[in-house]
This record gives sequence, structure tokens and C-alpha cells, in this order.
Amino acid sequence: MNVNGHPYHSIWLGDDGWSVCIIDQTALPHDFVIRSLRSVGDAAEAIATMRVRGAPLIGATAAYGIALAMREAADDFALASACDLLGATRPTAVNLRWALERMRHMLAPLTASERCAEAYAQAAALCDEDVSINRRIGEHGLHLIRSLWERGPRSGATLHILTHCNAGWLATVDWGTALAPIYLAHDAGIPLHIWVDETRPRNQGAALTAWELAAHGVPLDLVVDNAGGHLMQRGLVDLCLVGTDRTARNGDVCNKIGTYLKALSAADNDVPFHVALPGPTIDWALADGVADIPIEERDGSEVTEVRGVLADGTPGSVRITPPAVEARNFAFDVTPARLVSGLITERGACAASEEGLLSLYPEKRSLLP
Ligand code: MRU
Repeated sequence: MNVNGHPYHSIWLGDDGWSVCIIDQTALPHDFVIRSLRSVGDAAEAIATMRVRGAPLIGATAAYGIALAMREAADDFALASACDLLGATRPTAVNLRWALERMRHMLAPLTASERCAEAYAQAAALCDEDVSINRRIGEHGLHLIRSLWERGPRSGATLHILTHCNAGWLATVDWGTALAPIYLAHDAGIPLHIWVDETRPRNQGAALTAWELAAHGVPLDLVVDNAGGHLMQRGLVDLCLVGTDRTARNGDVCNKIGTYLKALSAADNDVPFHVALPGPTIDWALADGVADIPIEERDGSEVTEVRGVLADGTPGSVRITPPAVEARNFAFDVTPARLVSGLITERGACAASEEGLLSLYPEKRSLLP
């Protein structure tokens, strides 16, 4: 997507042909900072501190992290250590494990001297695939948006879509998952208005989704996380559209904390609640997402302090609680499949159920117990 008229991906190979460039998302929306990752340690730090975040982008960064590791040492021990280091950065998004497993699978049979070049080639291929997957999610989601706009209860009027967290191009290599259909629908001339949840505690909605959508000219209003129920009750939301960090094979989806409450409000108010996801976000090994998806718990300081820009323009944090108060910081929650109106993947739309997913990914049937 474009930033000030210049096309960007969220991760790319540096001009030197080996370092890896990322947009430091902790500096957005106040500063547009490009950072260079020069070691597997840099890649792990960028994922853990959320300079890069969003399930597909975490996977892409991990793949390049393996390539950076293979530059320094490419024996079996180095490969296993790099996978362990990167795999320990964040627990919930299954794309991380998927990308590492794919890299390990491709590299393990090779000799050490072959691994580095192949790792860079594989990381680049994974990024290219992500772009094309998300573009296809966008096209399938566009059908849904168009049909709601043409045939929904308020046909022809501006369509109001609520989204949570950031499932835009910054969360992927390009296009995004939940935002890809929004970009394509906007470009196709369908009048849209997006309700952007601020997404406490890290404010991915306020900082990233609002920045992305505004840069693309998509009309939006930022709302506090708790506004969704009120908006839906008043008939001000036509569609909820969110991403997911891990989808169990029964259609349960795990996304940023607060997504479940949106789905409950949507069900209570007959608002369609759709989830956009790339195939690598499906965890076929998990039969029950509510019971089994690991939920990341981050540092409580993300809740007790708010980051932003201070009056003098410098970035900083302010504490918003009494000094002794401690916080628990659950980063994700699971929305059960029964609350999900449908899934949108690169292969088309389906019901949020094992049969729905298998209708799009029949080759996975043989892997199931
Ligand atoms: O903690 P984050 O910012 O990595 O969480 C990201 C999300 O919750 C996104 O909605 C998710 O990765 C799915 S979309 C790409």
C-alpha cells in the first residue's frame, strides 16, 4: 500500500541484499521509522516488542529471521536454535509456528552450505504468497460487502463496518486480512464508513488501523472499545469484520482481546459477524479453540500506562492508575464458531465449522484424527 505516494510492503529485503527492512509499528502513527534487522536476535526482538505484529507478518518476519540466522551459522544446531528463539517470541498466532515449521522442513534436508541462499528464497516466496493470499481474501470479501450493500436492509446507503485491532496491510505483508475487502470495496466505489475500535491496551486500532484507512481515504470514526454494543443496538453497524490469529478446525477464532464481546453484541443485534483469514492461520490440530488456543499474557504495564506523544512532541508513557495497582493483560480471546456468521479465506467463504473449512481445504481431511 502507499505511504505518502510511495508503495510499501510491511517487510522487505534491504538494498544490500541481506538485511531485512521493517516499518517500526511502535513508532506509528507519529513517526514513520524504517528499521533494519541484521540478525536473528533482531528479528526475535522485533516480534516480541511488537515492532512487527499481526499474525501473517509475524510469520513472515520469523521466516526472514531464519535466513538471517543461516548467514551466521547454518548447521543443524543453528537451525534448531533459531527456530526455538523465534518460536518463543509470541504464543498465540499460529502463523509463527507454521512459518518456522515450513522453513525447517525446507532447510533441514540441505547441506549447511546450501541453507542460507535457500532460506532467503523461501522467506521471499512466503512473503509473495502472503500478498497474493490477502489480495484473494479481499476479492472474496468484496463479494460479501457488495451483496450487503446492494441487497442488505439499507441497500444503496453507506455501509457501516466495525473492525477491531489492526488486520490491515501492516499486519500482513500487504493488503491485510479484514481490511483487504474494505480497500477493494472502497476502490470499487462502494460507499463505506468504518467504526475503528481503539483496541486497548496497545491501541492498534487508534494508531494503526486509523492511520492506514485514513492514508487510503476510507472514511472512519474512532470509537472506544466499549462502544460497539451501543452502536449495534442503534442500528449503526451493518457488518463486523475482523481478523484472527488462530482458527481451530471447528471454526472458533482467536483474535485481539475484546473481539468476543463484539461477536456477542453482533449476535444480540442480528449484525453479521465475519472473520477474514489466510489458510496458514488455521490450526488443523486443534478441535476446540475455546479450550485449547494458548492466550498470550503480556506485561501489565501496557494496561497501567498509556503510550503516546507528549506535549513537547516526544514519545512517552503516562501512568493512569494509582502506583500500587497491578494489571493482568490478556492479549487475545476466543470467539466460538456459533457466533461467527462466516469465514472469508483466500479460497472463498465458508461456514465457521469443520465441514465448512474442509469444503475449502479438502486436502486437510487426511491429516485429521
Ligand atoms: O497483538 P497483535 O497486534 O499482533 O494482534 C493482531 C491481531 O489481533 C489481528 O487482528 C490478527 O493478527 C489477525 S489479522 C492479520
